[in-house]
Amino acid sequence: MSPSAKRRPFIAGNWKLFKTAAETVQYIRALKKLMKKGPEVDVALAPPFTALESAVKAASGSTIAIAAQNVFWEEEGAFTGEIAPGMLKALSVGLAIVGHSERRQYFGETDQTVNRRIKAALAAGLDAIVCIGETLEEREGKKTKRVLSSQISKGLAGLTREDGLRLTIAYEPVWAIGTGKTATPDMAQDAHQYIRRQLEKIFDKKVANSVRIQYGGSVKPDNAAELMAQPDIDGALVGGASLKPDVFFKIINFKGA
Ligand code: 13P
Repeated sequence: MSPSAKRRPFIAGNWKLFKTAAETVQYIRALKKLMKKGPEVDVALAPPFTALESAVKAASGSTIAIAAQNVFWEEEGAFTGEIAPGMLKALSVGLAIVGHSERRQYFGETDQTVNRRIKAALAAGLDAIVCIGETLEEREGKKTKRVLSSQISKGLAGLTREDGLRLTIAYEPVWAIGTGKTATPDMAQDAHQYIRRQLEKIFDKKVANSVRIQYGGSVKPDNAAELMAQPDIDGALVGGASLKPDVFFKIINFKGA
């Protein structure tokens, strides 16, 4: 694929357990001002659940999309601590992150629960960013591709082509998250190309060519451009470097427009 035919970049900030509603509003006001220059990328922010409503209001009139960091598979019931897809829709949130490695690592998330969450999100009209990626042990044991293929086939089991078109995949090698160790552009490209091939196997070429695959793991203003220049890297899922609007804007503006 020629670089000009590349998918529109999609850069999302995952705030994890940071920021109150008031801090969220302040941040979004600042980012909106910076974004007046209008870089040609899609942008999303995923604040904690408690700040979603304020975030949606603060982002109105801008192109910033607001995402949830997780979503449950039931609409209601005795499920203490969970948030239903319909509750997010009611706040005009249109997107949810599913299967982040921190959910898998600390909260018992599995490919099966990831699959249920994706299906429920899509059925309720939310789009999903699905996170996958290998641990250091798996990479050193040369199991990266096996792990990615299993996470994709189990996590996306039973989805239709139409479902596939509403997904973004975030490749986040666990060893690169919050560690300052970024995958080299070649390493990341190799994984992204492999992921795209798996998408072609379970959906088809059209879906594989349109799904955006974000890279995540210590993305910073000084490494964003070289990562984004890779043919199969279509964006970034940014943790730490998304917490300050000026730093995140430098990543959004990686082309230096
Ligand atoms: P860092 O950018 O802080 O490494 O986090 C990446 C991440 O987990 C985004 O979801």
